[in-house]
Amino acid sequence: MREVVIIDGVRSANTRAHKTKGWFRNKRADEIMTAVYDGLFARNPKVKPEDVEAVFCGTAKQVGQTLDIGRLAWLAGGYPEQVAANTICQQCPSGMSALEHAARAIMVGDGDTYIVAGCEDMLAVPMSMGIDFAPRLAVRYAPGALTMGATAEKVAEVYNVDPHDMRLMALYSNQRAAAARDAGKFDNEIIPIEGHDDEGNPFMVKTDQWIRDDISMEAMEKMTSPFKENGVITAAMSSPLTTGACAMIVMARDKADELGLDYSFKYVRGAMAGNDPTMMGIGPIPAVRKLLDRTGLTIDDIDVIELNEAFSSQALVVLRELGIGQNPPFEKVNMWGGALALGHPLGESGARIIITLMNIMKTEKPDSKYGLATLCGGFGNANAVIIEKIK
Ligand SMILES: CC(C)(COP(=O)(O)OP(=O)(O)OC[C@H]1O[C@@H](n2cnc3c(N)ncnc32)[C@H](O)[C@@H]1OP(=O)(O)O)[C@@H](O)C(=O)NCCC(=O)NCCS
Repeated sequence: MREVVIIDGVRSANTRAHKTKGWFRNKRADEIMTAVYDGLFARNPKVKPEDVEAVFCGTAKQVGQTLDIGRLAWLAGGYPEQVAANTICQQCPSGMSALEHAARAIMVGDGDTYIVAGCEDMLAVPMSMGIDFAPRLAVRYAPGALTMGATAEKVAEVYNVDPHDMRLMALYSNQRAAAARDAGKFDNEIIPIEGHDDEGNPFMVKTDQWIRDDISMEAMEKMTSPFKENGVITAAMSSPLTTGACAMIVMARDKADELGLDYSFKYVRGAMAGNDPTMMGIGPIPAVRKLLDRTGLTIDDIDVIELNEAFSSQALVVLRELGIGQNPPFEKVNMWGGALALGHPLGESGARIIITLMNIMKTEKPDSKYGLATLCGGFGNANAVIIEKIK
């Protein structure tokens, strides 16, 4: 098996998927994706687009503007036709799945260099677009029970999660994200892309739009659930609707050495796990357990963790069940905030959290060795990946 290294990764800012307030409301999804490809190649001039074996791009909703977005944004951006692309859907973990596909291809010798990307525009392509559930599925699961908010409510109920703890999760996520943004910690990963402010003035979008600087426990206590009568999951405890794209260069280590490239991270392994779709949020529990089992590592061997916060309830239950901790702040988890604050452009997030994980390990935790990224996915599709800092 060949060793696989991640050379670099960049992303757009995550913006609100809102038709009058979203900073990228006047941009098409493919334009954002192409801008990210451009940013990645611009700062890695030794990697030539024509030498890429293929692009694997994660996108949860492959319809409308994000139909085969990995390929079509590549072509629309003027990139070489002979480079193949495969836009992958594994719901929220799609971007992580894209990395696993690329890594495994390299491991067995099918090409040296891959672009791994992720893109979702929840404004142009809303979550409800194009859904047509198989009638037979309703025999097994009530269709309403498969909606994301309902699954978050069920996890809170089954595990009896205290709403106060869930508010704390949102509080720390936003406070950490704001602190990281203010300290410029995301500057290495966010490619500035032109967007529009509330008044319609163009500006270069360099920061994530959703982070709530004014977050308070008191304000959150007054909020109610949009998902269920007398429910407990509020908008503050939900990852918000978001637009964003990211991309990274993944390469065979021997090829990277031949090109004289600088790299710090090795792909160790990934593991997918399926679970009850009506409680999709706890899928990282079996995925991480499987991955630890396969690698022979324990959770204590992991120095830094990125857990996508789809909802406060699932994130808390995952962290508790995996023995990572009981209540926020979790020392080694989402050190620069999570999706509750940064947003969650579905299929993009699985790749985005790996990029953020690498930046945290490089700057915040320079002595770290193993990093874990994991996320749940709609319909009970979870995924987890471990990377190793080797330089
Ligand atoms: C929860 C959800 C329905 C809310 O949508 P929305 O109503 O458009 O969201 P908003 O951001 O407008 O928030 C609603 C209200 O809560 C307020 N709010 C949100 N977070 C808050 C916080 N932390 N503190 C105080 N107020 C907050 C907003 O300001 C807004 O108030 P307003 O109506 O007075 O302006 C939507 O974000 C959602 O569906 N999220 C989940 C997405 C999902 O399923 N992803 C996949 C996961 S696997």
